[in-house]
Amino acid sequence: MTDIPVLTIDGPSGSGKGTLAQRMASHLGWHYLDSGALYRVLAHAALKHQLPLHEAEPLAELAARLDVEFLLEGQHLQVWLEGEDVSLKIRSEQAGNAASKVAALPAVRAALLQRQRNFRQAPGLVTDGRDMGTVVFPDANFKVFLTASAEVRAGRRYKQLKEKGIESNLSDLIAEISERDQRDTGRSVAPLQAANDALVLDSSALGIDAVVKTICDYVR
Ligand code: C5P
Repeated sequence: MTDIPVLTIDGPSGSGKGTLAQRMASHLGWHYLDSGALYRVLAHAALKHQLPLHEAEPLAELAARLDVEFLLEGQHLQVWLEGEDVSLKIRSEQAGNAASKVAALPAVRAALLQRQRNFRQAPGLVTDGRDMGTVVFPDANFKVFLTASAEVRAGRRYKQLKEKGIESNLSDLIAEISERDQRDTGRSVAPLQAANDALVLDSSALGIDAVVKTICDYVR
């Protein structure tokens, strides 16, 4: 254990936790870990190397030797896999769904645990995901669980994808988000749930600036 401070932000997909985490990291001057990107990159690498998404052992092996690099450029996170910039490719809904399949395998989660903990570097770490406050950093100083209704989250995702030039369909997004929520909440290992000591915030009716302000007040 270490005394380097950590702020964990967990929640379902599209709750705004990624934007909040990046804003908080930049505000505090701390490092940032997007743990979902790790599962997305792993699923992408599995598809690239033609590994089925349900085969725990080869996937865990791949996870252990995954050649991935994160570069935070201002508010933009660049993700490199085996020397290729996959930042855009891993953001599709299909990539998110594939990620939630590999993320349901206990051996895969175990293989990625220490890699995530290694991001805890001075002066501090802001991290977002599903199990940051419950499993990866249970001793975190500040824990947030950010949520919003499935419809609001799908609407936000639609807008985000459009801004990135990715076309999508709103009702498909609602169905995909609900399916992913169910898989993430119902899995046996590290299910999506708020830590007992987390600040739970529903962002359905809140803009990102209001959410950032609430969390700044909490951390202060
Ligand atoms: O947060 P994001 O949508 O990028 O995560 C993609 C998927 O990765 C999630 O649906 C979830 O299944 C998985 N994940 C996880 N644990 C984390 C972060 C993401 O299981 N800490």
